[in-house]
Amino acid sequence: MTTSFVSNMSPDKVNLARITSVGIAVPPRILSNDDLSKMVDTNDQWITERTGIKTRHIVEKGVTCSDLAAQAALECLAKANLPASEVDLIIVATITPDMMLPATACLVQHKIGATKAWGFDMSIACSGFLYAMQVGAQFVVSGAHKNVLIIGMDIMSSIIDYTDRQTCIIFGDGGGCALIQASQKEEDGCFYDFLHEVDGSGGQFLCVPGGGSQTPASQKTVEDRMHFLKQDGPVVFKFATKRMPDLCVRLLERNGLTGKDIDVFIPHQANLRIIKSAVDRLGMPMEKVIVNIDKYGNTTAGTLPLAIDTALKEGRLKRGDLVLFAAMGAGLSAGASLIRWAY
Ligand SMILES: CC(C)(COP(=O)(O)OP(=O)(O)OC[C@H]1O[C@@H](n2cnc3c(N)ncnc32)[C@H](O)[C@@H]1OP(=O)(O)O)[C@@H](O)C(=O)NCCC(=O)NCCS
Repeated sequence: MTTSFVSNMSPDKVNLARITSVGIAVPPRILSNDDLSKMVDTNDQWITERTGIKTRHIVEKGVTCSDLAAQAALECLAKANLPASEVDLIIVATITPDMMLPATACLVQHKIGATKAWGFDMSIACSGFLYAMQVGAQFVVSGAHKNVLIIGMDIMSSIIDYTDRQTCIIFGDGGGCALIQASQKEEDGCFYDFLHEVDGSGGQFLCVPGGGSQTPASQKTVEDRMHFLKQDGPVVFKFATKRMPDLCVRLLERNGLTGKDIDVFIPHQANLRIIKSAVDRLGMPMEKVIVNIDKYGNTTAGTLPLAIDTALKEGRLKRGDLVLFAAMGAGLSAGASLIRWAY
């Protein structure tokens, strides 16, 4: 298998990178399908059959992205027994930052007391955590940093229109944080290869049209509900069921692998039907696939760390496992990556 990392910074100090700890944060309040059926014209059977979602978690008013991101980061650091003062870099993947600026990473840095860390946000929606993993790993592989926190966190309830039955049934709040550190040899865990692609021609199919430089916020944008997420569900569904498995297959093939070689598949939790179509293409049994969409819904950048946490807690992910991650979302964006799990 190939490791796709090349260091331009300090070639004499090229490391492997691995994930050594994961923490999560999910708000306690649950919004069930029955709750939603009292708000819009829908029902539990329709939502369950079309998406696989039963419940999603929603923050109380006033709880922010940086609040949950800091909670997840502190849990992650506590599990790694690493003081926040040792963190070098914080990358927050989110489309629901506390504010347009400053970056949520700066707020998290302050909240957790990571006094020497720098940081920034990444805005690539549901592909956010997958892409952030690769970006964070590069800083470790180059030898530039020892301890990198990557956070995938979204408060989707802040941009969801709870009168739009096509979107409000899907999304929830929450996410998690992973610590990336160096690894000396493959068996101790490492990032192997990745394949990421965007198709910007599909940007309009999943977007928040108001409040940016294209249509700055005004009374009219609010009246027209342009600050809420809009999606063309069937178009996104088609993209997801084709592009995500395509990338997985191409990534496996170029590493001389098939779905049978993968121990654990951790896909973005967008829709159970999307996950199952990818699993069919990969020819792997559902026992190898981590699914928790029934509980959390689609938390956008939060789904992958939440799924890692589920896999660990259920004892289905262990040291040495070859893990395939996959995601897709707004952009339109998609990706897949191969990782040897470290613990
Ligand atoms: C949104 C999604 C669940 C809709 O499922 P679908 O099978 O494509 O359903 P359609 O949009 O074709 O709608 C079928 C019918 O159900 C209706 N419908 C839509 N939402 C509904 C709901 N919550 N409850 C009941 N009926 C609903 C539609 O109005 C339509 O009715 P009609 O046939 O009378 O016009 C599905 O398209 C999807 O999951 N898309 C991908 C979304 C996604 O993953 N987004 C995040 C990407 S990271």
